[in-house]
Amino acid sequence: MRIADVDVMDLKKKYSTPLYIYDVNHLKKNMDGYLSYFKSPNFDTEVLYASKAFSIKEVLRIVKEKGMSLDCVSLGELYTAKCVDFDFKKIYFHGNNKSYEELEYAIGNNVGVIVVDNYMELETIEEIANNKKKNVNVIVRINSGVSAHTHKFIVTSHIDSKFGVLYKSDEYNKIIDLCNKSEFINFKGFHSHIGSQIFDLEAFRAALVKLISYAKDFSEPLILNIGGGFGVRYTSEDSPIPFDVVSQTLINTANEELTKSGLKIKKLCIEPGRSIVAECGYTIYEIGYIKKTPNKEYYFINGGMTDNIRPALYQAKYDADIVGKENDVKNHLVTVAGKCCESGDLIIEGINLPEAKKGDVLITYTTGAYGYSMSNNYNKALTPAVVFVEDGKDKLVVKRQTLDELLEREI
Ligand code: LLP
Repeated sequence: MRIADVDVMDLKKKYSTPLYIYDVNHLKKNMDGYLSYFKSPNFDTEVLYASKAFSIKEVLRIVKEKGMSLDCVSLGELYTAKCVDFDFKKIYFHGNNKSYEELEYAIGNNVGVIVVDNYMELETIEEIANNKKKNVNVIVRINSGVSAHTHKFIVTSHIDSKFGVLYKSDEYNKIIDLCNKSEFINFKGFHSHIGSQIFDLEAFRAALVKLISYAKDFSEPLILNIGGGFGVRYTSEDSPIPFDVVSQTLINTANEELTKSGLKIKKLCIEPGRSIVAECGYTIYEIGYIKKTPNKEYYFINGGMTDNIRPALYQAKYDADIVGKENDVKNHLVTVAGKCCESGDLIIEGINLPEAKKGDVLITYTTGAYGYSMSNNYNKALTPAVVFVEDGKDKLVVKRQTLDELLEREI
């Protein structure tokens, strides 16, 4: 098996397992897909990479090289951007409970836009902006009430969501009043994010129509940011919508609504994370022991919920192969289980795979988003290395954690 013309078994020998592998050309193609299709002659457009999906320096260097903008949600993500000299004017800073320190860092570094979640946060932003005598652009996160068909833990847009404010609610009115009164805060528009791993374009259309309708209260053309959440293919049950269709649907919806209402907008933004990095990522593991119970057969792997917590957290589904046996008969119905002391540490429940032996390499697909970024040290597992492959060459971009690093902060 080869990825970007690199033999997976060679990567295993060189870097050991578990190992995250990314196909760089695929990553760049995904970015180009959004950048080329998400355009309109009638208003500006901006494609932000939602860095929470996979925020490491090497990815941000590519984001920068492509001229994309960035969505950051924490001091850690802002700092990662700073370390690769990312232009802070191209960063939108998100979060429902940004700390004083985080806001000071963002404003001190001239962040492009702060996405305000609530009134108390705006008061803090104003205090910092006044102290620093700096203008701050804000857009307000709106809970549009549109909720998409996806796993309930990742739907964010029900009316009591912790994210955003409802249009014309007291919280909303107070925010708009303070923006109007404030010397240094510039209100620029609205943001909405309706959930994740969404395949239903109607949900995005509905949210966008709502955002545009809110623009009627303002004389200046606004920035509208419709968030991310575009679905990807984890298994054959998923059929993602191609970049051109997603992009054109949003652009056309905006144009239709603007024509109907006679309104103008300054800019339309999207914030894809998963759909940029998920499908270019793979994880390889080594199979250790194989065990039969009365009703099941287990293939045990040398990783699990520490490098991919999504199956345990969201019952997320994945597809896998045994490297070198992709074309063998898949006549074993097995459960691929991780090595954590946790019954729920099952990476795939019920997959047909060929007969395996100890030492075989198992590969899981579409692990590029929220895998490394949600990795953890439960059971004191070491965070795996990350390797990028491109045109027959491999490049280590994150080193495997060592035992000493695991303990270095312990006193
Ligand atoms: N913008 C905002 C404001 C968001 O909250 C998110 C994701 C995104 C953009 C990017 O969404 P994407 O295109 O990646 O779906 N850990 C979960 C996903 C949580 C997503 C949180 N927000 C998972 O592994 O499925």
